[in-house]
Amino acid sequence: MKTRILFIAALIYLAGFSQACFAQAVSYLKPQAELLNIIKQNITDADSQYKFLTSQLTAGRFPKNFNPVNNKLETSNSGWWCSGFYAGTLLNLYEQNHDVALLTAAKRSMDSLAKEQYNTHTHDLGFMMYISFGNANRLNPNPEYRQILINSAKSLSTRFNPKVGCIKSWESKPSDFLVIIDNMMNLELLFWATRETGDSSFYKIAVTHANSTIKNHYRADYSSYHVINYNPETGAVQQKKTAQGFADESAWARGQVWGLYGFTVMYRETKDKKYLEQAKHIAEFILNNPNLPADKIPYWDFNAPNIPNALRDASAGAIMASALLELCRYTDKSNGVKYFNTAQSIIKTLSSSEYKAVPGTNGGFILKHSVGHFPQKSEVDVAISYADYYFAEAMKRYTQFAAK
Ligand code: GLY
Repeated sequence: MKTRILFIAALIYLAGFSQACFAQAVSYLKPQAELLNIIKQNITDADSQYKFLTSQLTAGRFPKNFNPVNNKLETSNSGWWCSGFYAGTLLNLYEQNHDVALLTAAKRSMDSLAKEQYNTHTHDLGFMMYISFGNANRLNPNPEYRQILINSAKSLSTRFNPKVGCIKSWESKPSDFLVIIDNMMNLELLFWATRETGDSSFYKIAVTHANSTIKNHYRADYSSYHVINYNPETGAVQQKKTAQGFADESAWARGQVWGLYGFTVMYRETKDKKYLEQAKHIAEFILNNPNLPADKIPYWDFNAPNIPNALRDASAGAIMASALLELCRYTDKSNGVKYFNTAQSIIKTLSSSEYKAVPGTNGGFILKHSVGHFPQKSEVDVAISYADYYFAEAMKRYTQFAAK
């Protein structure tokens, strides 16, 4: 009992530490006044874009992507893995400009999303529910949201297989157990649930999943495979392969940055140095990669065949910027400055007319040029909901370095 109380007290302390940490300036990490002004304008433009996007939605539909070739806004139902990003972006923007219309739109969307708390057929509940209800509950703690998040964590936990040591990502035949690197992003919800309920089983699942991922998803150079197929009976690795990348042995860009973000969160939530080292190694793989362009927006795969003419993935850039703006707080000065400056370059590039849409265009999304699933020719060079979410988060994090 005493150990349990100490464990929970430590978790609450770590949570408080990370909240306070984000609000703090760091003497050697100085945001540029010019970029802060650009961000201010970006938030104003994003506000009008998201109102435009909202005006096009019918009840119960969630924005998925916009394809400039046919001028088509694609929407989804609440079960799609991206259904929480729209509310999450609205909430992030609301946090930065206090426009209540954004909060109202987010609440309306979450009303249609709430039923997914009982969905045990997806590993994406972290994305769907923590990005939406998690942000909403952080801004305005609410018992209804809290319960939805706890139920979501319970649903996600049903997918954990102790023999494999992972949460199952994708359904497949019974002899397969497929885990994708993206799944690292769903663990934050579990840490939150342990803090809230005192039930350490969520925490243990997250840590076990992350440890299995370090062991089996990563190559010697700290690039990550996309998909590991485990034997569900023995836990043995049966296959290492890709689904959304160029090749089984390539480094799919979004997979690399999901890992970067995921292990940074692991360090924040546990303060275990092993996760900090993992995040730093991943950052080095990305930042030292000869195929990372000078403007720091990755090609959709670091080994795409037609570099330098391969498509860029703005979503990978946005996720990377946000992750680096957290990681730079946890490292020594020289790494911190390097990560901060890289994130700064990314935000600048994404704020340029090459990536940032003119208000009233792009279906209402903020950013252009993301790549969803290149091998399937699905969502290729389109605006996509999660690019906007992580861009809004990265801008918020950058601005927080100016806090007094
Ligand atoms: N499966 C999530 C992604 O496309 O990044």
